[in-house]
Amino acid sequence: MSDPHPTVDVSAFPHDFLWGTATSAYQIEGAVAEDGRTPSIWDTFAHTPGRIDGGDDGDIACDHYHRWREDIGLMRQLGTNAYRLSVAWPRIVPGGSGPVNPKGLAFYDELIDALLAADITPSVTLYHWDLPQALQDRGGWPVRETAEHFAAYAAVVAERLGDRVKHWTPLNEPLCSAWIGHLEGRMAPGLTDLTAAVRASYHLLLGHGLATRAIRAAVPGAEVGIVNNLAHVEPATERPEDHAAARRMDGHANRWWLDPVHGRGFPADMLEVYGVQLPQKTGDMAAIAEPLDWLGLNYYFPSAVADDPSGPAPYAAAVARPGLPRTGMDWEVDAHGIEALLLRLTHDYGARKLYVTENGSAYPDVVRPDGTVDDPERAAYLEQHLAACARAIRQGAPLAGYFAWSLLDNFEWAYGYDKRFGLVHVDYATQKRTIKGSGHRYADLVRRHGALARRAA
Ligand code: FCB
Repeated sequence: MSDPHPTVDVSAFPHDFLWGTATSAYQIEGAVAEDGRTPSIWDTFAHTPGRIDGGDDGDIACDHYHRWREDIGLMRQLGTNAYRLSVAWPRIVPGGSGPVNPKGLAFYDELIDALLAADITPSVTLYHWDLPQALQDRGGWPVRETAEHFAAYAAVVAERLGDRVKHWTPLNEPLCSAWIGHLEGRMAPGLTDLTAAVRASYHLLLGHGLATRAIRAAVPGAEVGIVNNLAHVEPATERPEDHAAARRMDGHANRWWLDPVHGRGFPADMLEVYGVQLPQKTGDMAAIAEPLDWLGLNYYFPSAVADDPSGPAPYAAAVARPGLPRTGMDWEVDAHGIEALLLRLTHDYGARKLYVTENGSAYPDVVRPDGTVDDPERAAYLEQHLAACARAIRQGAPLAGYFAWSLLDNFEWAYGYDKRFGLVHVDYATQKRTIKGSGHRYADLVRRHGALARRAA
């Protein structure tokens, strides 16, 4: 188990390290029907009774669409020099394909200018799960056209923002879109259909490749990457069945997403596990394997898995390990996984540049009578994971930035507003923001690193 209060070796981080926070459009923006935005699959899903805890939805969320100036002010208070945001496709191309909405582009245009004026480097994600409902109605990710429309939308955004934005990623966690959205049904669009899920995974990766090309064509000097939530998987026991289950889970969560973009094709063992024909056309694999400038890792928890023949593919289920602390999501806390995954990306996939694009924890926070929020568990989680990042760097991982999830408490998908991941507390009744103890701790660390870097310069 990790030391609960490690000292983070800030001298391990390169001088030009990006210290950031991350958010996504649907989770913070609100203003879902404003300025020409149309519904996404998450609006539909959230408004379907029974889908979201507490019956919550993203209609208002953190009202960031109107309060973004204040939110940039918070980033400045934290002293961060980078911010990972996502662009809402249904604001830019409300029909999914076809006419572009100038008001949608104007919103992000102004936001980017303000970030740059605050010396904050923007890192833009084009798809954080909010597919225009209009495209879902035409088949969604299981159909090929969605990948093509995605590349067209990517080109529009890249052409508009590319003079100022150099860090790009087409997709956030395609695993969630494909496996959780189409196979497990716990996320939009809420299907439980293996064939649809495999086809969606294929078209997501194809869309990633086509969008990568579109960004490169529009933005000289663009640095394009992919953001995956990889799993640090161990077998729950020494039984051969559990070892095989861990291998399948590794294929499902890691190799399926990493191998094709590295020109290694889809893993043969997983093609056999799924037994679904890929909708492959000539040239697709080259597009999917378009070389990348960086790999993004979203890491929250490790998992021990056991054979589960009656579950959905990959027939492997996570098993709770007694003794490990857990967050408010019931996720195990073990920072060893982030270190191991950064090293795996370095050694097995030859990553030239890595970012931790998300990492964080949810705990039930309490605003004290004096108005402060003390969250020692989140602060400890943050420090343990940053200490693990520093160890990975010392062992050769080319880590260039870390984005804490999240800047703000926000709409945590199927869990609604009950799960708070922010370094900044949001009172949803008043929209009042309060930097939590963990946010102050992050700011201290960023300051300490900045002082070191300045001294060395
Ligand atoms: C990741 C998502 C992000 C957030 C965190 C807790 O899987 O990318 O939007 O919900 O989990």
